[in-house]
Amino acid sequence: MADEQAIGQAARLIERAERIAVLTGAGVSKESGVPTFRDALDGLWARYDPQQLATPEAFRANPKLVWDWYEYRRSLVRQAQPNPGHVALAQLQARKPGTVVITQNVDDLHERAGSREVLHLHGNIAGNRCFADCRGNPTPIDISALDWADDSLPACPDCGAWVRPDIVWFGEALPQPVLDRAFDLAQACDLMIVVGTSGLVTPAALLPDIATSAGARLIEVNPDTTRYSAHADVKLSGGSGELLPRVLAGWGAP
Ligand code: OAD
Repeated sequence: MADEQAIGQAARLIERAERIAVLTGAGVSKESGVPTFRDALDGLWARYDPQQLATPEAFRANPKLVWDWYEYRRSLVRQAQPNPGHVALAQLQARKPGTVVITQNVDDLHERAGSREVLHLHGNIAGNRCFADCRGNPTPIDISALDWADDSLPACPDCGAWVRPDIVWFGEALPQPVLDRAFDLAQACDLMIVVGTSGLVTPAALLPDIATSAGARLIEVNPDTTRYSAHADVKLSGGSGELLPRVLAGWGAP
């Protein structure tokens, strides 16, 4: 449980900051019912093997299995609602225009909470593209007009390759323009707030290091200890859905 003093310190850092970058991970959506990846009990990678579900090789070997797994995750995201942590970050953006949310999440809960500028480092689970990227990388495909059999998956209307979810799999490069902008923001911000990420997947995990090396202050919101915890200026130990609204409420308090 984060104490009032730490909440107050975080609020003061936010008040004074001029350029805030927020990096979020799966933990920010956990209180919305979207599972994280690495939580020991209910994380997705505790129950499923990423090598069989989240790589281009896995899709090539068994496209229907991978497609169905993403359909399951899409249904979880569709049923989920933004939680108070997403809402607090949207309010932060409204009160400090120029604050950018950089997320590793493939859900759209930041946007549905009202966040305007959101950079998706790992893609968007609702989107689809051609597995062969036959018209350039990426080749987006609207599947709403396509027909496919129940025991199959949609195929690209141009080249016939399977349609895949528009997310970044293990072993794939992140979308370069998004990554470039995220690195620029990390370099230029004077405060980075890291919320709900284990910090185990690069290059996203490097962003807080880039920010602090360039002189930015660091706030971390996470119930666990991560590689960022020891050098954070303020560590808020707990769920972001509970703690971020408290920080926002403390902003402006005497
Ligand atoms: P992880 O599952 O690795 O880490 C989730 C973090 O959220 C952990 O540090 C938890 O302690 C923390 N957490 C749990 N509940 C929380 C809560 N209520 N509030 C705040 N934090 C909480 O997820 P990511 O770091 O996002 O990649 O994983 C990074 C990438 O690995 C993902 O984007 C995904 C995955 O493989 C791709 O899909 C490409």
